[in-house]
Amino acid sequence: PYPMYENMRANQPVIYMDGMGFWSVFHYDDVRTVLSDHARFSSGPGAPPPSQIAAAPPQAESRGVGFSLITSDPPKHTMLRSLVSRSFTPRAVAALEPRIESIANELIDRCEAAGEIDLIRDFAYPLPVIVIAELLGIPSADRDQFKLWSDEVVASANAIMGDVNPQSQKALADMHMYFRDIIAKRRIQPEDDLISALLLVEEERQQLNEHDILAFCSLLLVAGNETTTNLIGNAVLTLLEHPEQLDKLRAESERLAPAIEEVLRYRSPVQAMFRTAKEDISLGGQIIPGGSRVVAWIGSANRDEQKFDRAGEFDITRESNPHIAFGHGIHFCLGAPLARLEARVALMVILKRLPNLARINHDPLQPARGFIVHGVESLPLRFG
Ligand code: HEM
Repeated sequence: PYPMYENMRANQPVIYMDGMGFWSVFHYDDVRTVLSDHARFSSGPGAPPPSQIAAAPPQAESRGVGFSLITSDPPKHTMLRSLVSRSFTPRAVAALEPRIESIANELIDRCEAAGEIDLIRDFAYPLPVIVIAELLGIPSADRDQFKLWSDEVVASANAIMGDVNPQSQKALADMHMYFRDIIAKRRIQPEDDLISALLLVEEERQQLNEHDILAFCSLLLVAGNETTTNLIGNAVLTLLEHPEQLDKLRAESERLAPAIEEVLRYRSPVQAMFRTAKEDISLGGQIIPGGSRVVAWIGSANRDEQKFDRAGEFDITRESNPHIAFGHGIHFCLGAPLARLEARVALMVILKRLPNLARINHDPLQPARGFIVHGVESLPLRFG
């Protein structure tokens, strides 16, 4: 998409995309405005997402189920966010590091003898699902079932737009039934997990109800899995394309965290987020009419030459990197500390355990589905 973004930034940085039915915004400053100016750009559903215009009648209900936090505006958003963020602190996330490391090592153990790995299928895909399951407190015996539901919900949900199609309705319903069961058990016997923590908030403050808790659990699945998979996949792919930087990283592990930030900028796993204009808005010399759907192109903003030196170059030693891959403002990604931790641990384990990593063939890579999430479907590698 990058030559297209470059062209749009140069020639039509704010434009109505006729065939798609939405406005597109490409410059860094404008994208940041659209993401963070919630008084004028609503996160609510507004008009149905474009994918539904041509398809079945909008399913208002399904959109309401799983996505209350990401699709709400203040004051509801402020309330929900303060309740859930308390049980999702950087400290709680940091405590997961040893578990993440052992999960990553177990996934590598399974492929080590073969000397080959599909980095997506065998590693970057299962890792975040298992971590979320642990975070929520899903018993390990139920993890395979949980993964099946999660696959189904994520596969047919239109990334984090809140647009769940009918095939995933059943999986979502079954998963909710399962969560209800866990909630009932945790009410009697709390454990050290996120669901128990949310129940505590519900009891103390009576501002959360079971519906909100279910919605939040589904949101974590949809918002947190595919995105992190693609961050890990994009990191390995980009480093293989820049072998001298991969060598540097092997020699100096303190460079891991900034390298991940540079991957987030250079190949942003979430390329775009939607908003709805609440009124007529003047932006980049255009008037966006009230009620319009607006796409903020994060992937373009992070390559904007006006914001970043050598924007099109990958450089893990970049000094200043104010990318907006996790969004900006009140909806800033709640899972950012977890995604960063998972990616850092994943890369550390890969560098340690998989020497002489190389692509098995150089056939063109298949891009991940959808235009919001950015990554590759599979990445077959050999090592040893
Ligand atoms: C919000 C990106 C991983 C949970 C967001 C937003 C972006 C984003 C761009 C802002 C949406 C908006 O402005 O409308 C990413 C990327 C990830 C990632 C690139 C991985 C590399 C995760 C993980 C979790 C998570 C691991 C949880 C386990 C959330 C939630 C929100 C959110 C709950 C909504 C926050 C709110 O509306 O207040 N994410 N995300 N994300 N993300 Fe992430």
